[in-house]
Order: sequence, then structure tokens, then C-alpha cells
Amino acid sequence: MPTSSANQSAISHEWGPEAAATRAAHGFANRFGRAATWIAFAPGRVNLIGEHTDYNDGFVLPMAIDRYTAIAAARSEESTIRLASAQMPEESIFAALLTSSPNQKSEILSHPSPPWARYVLGTLALCADSGLHVGPLDVWIDSDVPLGAGLSSSAALEVATATLAEAIAGQTLDPMAKARLCQQAEHQYAGMPCGIMDQAISVCATLGHALLLDCRTGETRQVAMDDPSVVVLIANSNVKHALCDGEYASRRADCHAAASALGIVALRDASLPQLDAAAKQLNPTIFRRARHVITENDRTLAAAEAIARRNWTTAGQLMYESHVSMRDDFEISCPEIDVLVEAAKNIGEARGVFGSRMTGGGFGGCTVSLVKADSADRIADKLRREYRARTGIEPTLFVTSAAQGTHIAGRA
Ligand code: GLA
Repeated sequence: MPTSSANQSAISHEWGPEAAATRAAHGFANRFGRAATWIAFAPGRVNLIGEHTDYNDGFVLPMAIDRYTAIAAARSEESTIRLASAQMPEESIFAALLTSSPNQKSEILSHPSPPWARYVLGTLALCADSGLHVGPLDVWIDSDVPLGAGLSSSAALEVATATLAEAIAGQTLDPMAKARLCQQAEHQYAGMPCGIMDQAISVCATLGHALLLDCRTGETRQVAMDDPSVVVLIANSNVKHALCDGEYASRRADCHAAASALGIVALRDASLPQLDAAAKQLNPTIFRRARHVITENDRTLAAAEAIARRNWTTAGQLMYESHVSMRDDFEISCPEIDVLVEAAKNIGEARGVFGSRMTGGGFGGCTVSLVKADSADRIADKLRREYRARTGIEPTLFVTSAAQGTHIAGRA
């Protein structure tokens, strides 16, 4: 979704799905003057490790965060889908979608709707193609997933929309098929050639677990993140550099070029010795891109093992290594993010920080740190002060825990 800080400064705001449901129900009633029939949610995510590996058929280890997008809806008397949101001023009115219409995609893309509405309409159009037809609807969206911060506000919106469509149609999709449908919505309607990670975790997350996902086979393993002495601290740098979608697509192209040069389907299939052996034939940039992906896959598998054994020291070390690889080989970090990771590392394990790295697509956004629960406030405070002093920017920090994936609140 487009960047906005509108939902990031709420005071005495309650997090979690129940609070999101209450807000969405109230918002719907205020806007449309009647009660909502359905409320669907989907969480944002933080990726613990495994960055830019998903579209290389590799491994990722994200977890859902307790920040949700909630969508409240009810049948409309008009023959339209009307979308309104607590975060965005402009509304969208679109003709109710047809089960199969060859022109639907171009009609949605050329409609003068605000850009965020395309995520919803695009997902609904693809749901209709899969037989989940929602008909005329009034829809209210309320989200406390920080927007444009690398915490997957777009995936949360797509997945909540697909879950709503399932509830209305009275049919469910296979979880990974649902994630892929939402990924397609992002490709086709937002022009972002993302991998499968964000949508998969928003669909498949279970409370108290991170998800080790094999992005080639779709196989998943739930990894417990329920040690009460350790928490996940997210630091939003509140910066977003460059045209990140263009940079993202260019990293994808670099990885594709590396795989082609190595004669393999995807970088998942390459080993470091194989890459080293081909070094002379590869352009140095392509070599470094491939090295990041190959080593990141190994780190992700190792981190999943370490976390499962509650070996936080090893998991944290792998996170630092991941950051260096993203910064130097994949070149997707930025000075502000590096300040946050460096400040976390300087605090050190003795004072409660196990590890830290940038999370998400890159060029700004957030860092994720594993920290001792009883030191989290002090650490957050120190990071805030150091970041502000070195960059002049106010960061947003919060502790989060591994949350539940998408679900329906039931008929309101
Ligand atoms: C974005 C994409 C994901 C993934 C990450 C980088 O979040 O949506 O598919 O590629 O970047 O790991």
C-alpha cells in the first residue's frame, strides 16, 4: 500500500485481532449505517531471516506480527462494490465483479480508484476467477499494520480480502493456493513482482510460531517462538529510499541471470563451491547477488534449527551475518538501517541483544532484533536515542510476538 504514517501514532491503541474486529465493526457501522455481516483479518509479518530467497525457490523464516488488517463487509442493495478505509480518505465504487469477464482486469486497472483499492479489487477478481464470487458489497478496511514499512501491509490486505471472499462464498481455498492467488493479485494489479513469502505467512501463521517455508515445494514447518525470556523487537527507521519496486525487480533479474549462467533452474540449486568455480565467467555484481542468496538459504535453515533449540546466540549471529550479506552482496540496505543494526550490535548480548538485521524487501523499512524480554524496554530506548542522534529521524519501535494467521471473526 502507499506510504502513510496515519496509523502509526495512535495513543492507547489496542493491538490484536479482537481489537481490530471491534474497530472494523464500529468503522463499518459509522460509514454505512448498519452492522457488518462478515469481518476477516490478516496479519502483517516480520521476516526473521531468509531475505530475497523466496523467488529463488529458497527458504524463508517469517512470523506473523500482532498487527492486523481487518475488513468488515455486508451485502449491498446497489450493484456495486464500495470500498472505504479508516486510513485512506478516498473511497472507491466499482461495478460488482463478474465470475469471468475478459475485460475485468483492464477495467480495474483503468478505473479512477485510489491505488490501495486495486489490491482489494484485484484479489476479488482473481477469487471470482476461482469460483469465489462475492457479489455487491459495502466494505470497510481498518489496518494497524504500519504502511510501506516492509511489514507486508499489502499482503495483509490481499489475504484479508481473500479470506472475506471465502467466507462470503462459503468455500475455502487450499492455503498455499490462496497465498499464490494473493501473490498474483500483487503482480497483476500492483505491478510488484513479489515472491510468495508475505502472502504465505499471512495465510499459514500459527500463534507462537515462526514458519520455515520451502518456497519451491510449498512445504512448511512450524518453528516454536514461545520462549518467554526472548522477544522480537521491531525498529521502523521511518525511511524508504529509491523506487523500491524497480530495485526489487532488478535484484530478481540479477538472480535470474546468475542461475542462467550457472545452468540451473534457480539459485536454490547452487552451492558455494559451484559459484566459486564459475566466478571467472560471472560479472562481479551477479556473483555477489548469487553469493547472498546461496549463503542466505544456508543461514535460514541453520537459524530455524537454532531457534527450535532455543539457541538464541547462534540465531542472533546468523541474523548479523544475514545483514552483512544484504548490505554488501545484495546491496539492499541503507545508511539509516545500518545505524540501527550497528547500534543493536554495540549493545551486545551481555546487555540483551542476540542479533539484528534489516527485514523485508530493503532500502529502508524496519530492522528485526532478537532481545531478552526483561531488557527490551531499555534496548528500545537506547536504539531510539542513538538512531535519533545519528540520523535526526524519529524511529518507531515495538515488541511483537508470533501471531495467528488470517481468519474470520464470524458473523458480526
Ligand atoms: C518483499 C517481497 C517478498 C520477499 C521480500 C524479500 O517483501 O514481497 O516476496 O521477496 O521482499 O525477502
